[in-house]
Amino acid sequence: MTKTAQLIIDGKTIELPIVEGTLGDRALDITRLRADTGFITYDPGYVNTGPCKSAITFVDGENGILRYRGYPIEQIADRGSFTETAWLLIFGQLPTRDQLSRFSAGLCAEELLHEDLRHHFEGFPPNGHPMAMLSAIINSLGCYHPDLLEIESRGEFYLAASKIISKVRTIAAFSYRKSMGLPFMYPNPALSYCRNFLHMMFSIPNRPYDPSPEAVRALSLFLTLHADHEQNCSCSTVRMVGSTQANLFASVSSGICALWGRLHGGANAGVVEMLEHIRDGESSPREVLEMVKQKKFRLMGFGHRIYKNFDPRAKILKRAAHDLLLKLGKLDELMDIAMELEQLALADPYFVERKLYPNVDFYSGIILRALNIPVQMFPVMFAIGRMPGWIAHWYEEHLETTKIHRPRQVYTGQVLRDYVPIDER
Ligand code: CMC
Repeated sequence: MTKTAQLIIDGKTIELPIVEGTLGDRALDITRLRADTGFITYDPGYVNTGPCKSAITFVDGENGILRYRGYPIEQIADRGSFTETAWLLIFGQLPTRDQLSRFSAGLCAEELLHEDLRHHFEGFPPNGHPMAMLSAIINSLGCYHPDLLEIESRGEFYLAASKIISKVRTIAAFSYRKSMGLPFMYPNPALSYCRNFLHMMFSIPNRPYDPSPEAVRALSLFLTLHADHEQNCSCSTVRMVGSTQANLFASVSSGICALWGRLHGGANAGVVEMLEHIRDGESSPREVLEMVKQKKFRLMGFGHRIYKNFDPRAKILKRAAHDLLLKLGKLDELMDIAMELEQLALADPYFVERKLYPNVDFYSGIILRALNIPVQMFPVMFAIGRMPGWIAHWYEEHLETTKIHRPRQVYTGQVLRDYVPIDER
């Protein structure tokens, strides 16, 4: 029997069905609320709103738990790869050896851009932000695949997903090369997903870039840890755009735009800029924290809507950053500054009372710096990683939801006015 909760409004009692998830999430089903009572809910920032059911990613923010399709993030980080994770998120199961090798071969087959699409880069100014180029060109990809604008079968979805996951890396690397005035390096099908990206970023025509296995592994880990995080702002954007039956290319392009902001995927660049500010002696860590507490700005890479405990991704990335620097024999003073800042913040009542912990962005920039990725590219790296998650959510929406996302509002504007001709205003 469906459990219900009672709501009394204007003396009338209505029964709200309770929806339960497999791991104890509980929600009040208010789909009939307005029809039965005339009321809507008011929930700025959607803090209490679940617009969908989803079987992709589970987060328990109180206990610092993150699972992709039921698998703990720690196990995936330790033993999986990014392409395997992409398959898992999109198709729901760990791939067999055969599935994985066919998927990887498919990604290789899709890695080139149409030459006309490549010319789009010429239209951008040399200092154009790579996030703007990425979202514009991913959206434009749809023009080159008109047959995939309407997805009518699993095979078409598979093809569109493979194209995006493969080409996003080519587009990202070309955006960087454009911003540096360097010639584009075409992808090399003999290389793995991550190695190929580093090749397109850093090889020059007469000198192939040969990254260490540790660097390639660190990149795969970075992308894996960013691959999905349930209904965050960019994922919800993708689902919302997808709910209009907009195509996959346009929907994930909107996700890139949502990700760009400083409170979301732009935070990783914000962290490094903050650490550099401290390194350059402009403020000490204690002074930065004082300014944060006076609400002059936020401590970047700290706090999370869901995690009120350690973000498990931050724990993994902190250790990985340490290991990578050690293996590459590099020193990064920003790592020491980050650790000092973290220690001071975690001992400060302001952060303790508000349950603010390092999030995924706090240490990720140290890894990207060790890989020589410039700060401008940090949100782009996040977007490459998040692509499988966006695609998985778009498909879930496509298969299961028939309702366009269309919230209501509480109108607070003028009641009624008569139009005033311009000469009389
Ligand atoms: N520094 C200082 N104070 C903070 C911070 C922070 N990073 N985060 C939250 N607070 C304070 C906030 O000022 C508020 O204080 P008060 O109760 O005195 O008004 C309280 O904590 C609750 O904050 P909130 O704004 O209601 O929390 P939220 O869930 O709406 O925001 C957040 C979540 C991630 C936007 C926020 O923690 C933040 O701005 N963090 C810094 C930016 C960042 O690192 N973003 C990356 C998030 S994780 C990866 C991703 O999603 O892309």
